[in-house]
Amino acid sequence: MALVEAEWQSQGIRFILNIAPGLPTLKGRGDAPPASLNLVQNACQAMPAGGVVTIGARAEQHMLCLEVADEGVGIAPEDVERMFALYYTTRPDGTGIGLSIVYRIVQMHDGTIDVRSELGHGTTMTVRLPFRSAR
Ligand SMILES: Nc1ncnc2c1ncn2[C@@H]1O[C@H](COP(=O)(O)OP(=O)(O)OP(=O)(O)O)[C@@H](O)[C@H]1O
Ligand SMILES: [Mg+2]
Repeated sequence: MALVEAEWQSQGIRFILNIAPGLPTLKGRGDAPPASLNLVQNACQAMPAGGVVTIGARAEQHMLCLEVADEGVGIAPEDVERMFALYYTTRPDGTGIGLSIVYRIVQMHDGTIDVRSELGHGTTMTVRLPFRSAR
């Protein structure tokens, strides 16, 4: 969030951080932070008129549960599967690479990723990563 906050604030986007206190450190590869950055960028890009991005982190048993929620355009149910495909994009300047990288990084950390979305209302991406997974 620190990396992109200033840029998006000027586009009318506000960030809310909802980080549970006392979370253990996630041991993983160095590519885990860029994966979450991709989710934050997507969330911001889904809100051309601005809005709130809520970033949450909490522990669920032995998993870190990381949530990025936006109030953006949303994704139709039939497109949710496709959105992780390489080169799938609906943005004129998009490459469609972002989420396929996220998907692979999450897999390499034995994690899962879930999408909850409602067209016209917003999207919540939920990544769960085991606290000990470095490979
Ligand atoms: N938070 C979101 N809300 C609505 N649609 C989304 C969201 N995140 C992803 N999508 C959809 O999934 C598509 C693929 O996302 P992905 O991050 O892979 O590529 P991109 O953002 O289009 O391009 P890139 O990340 O390479 O710049 C997006 O073009 C968009 O249609
Ligand atoms: Mg993207």
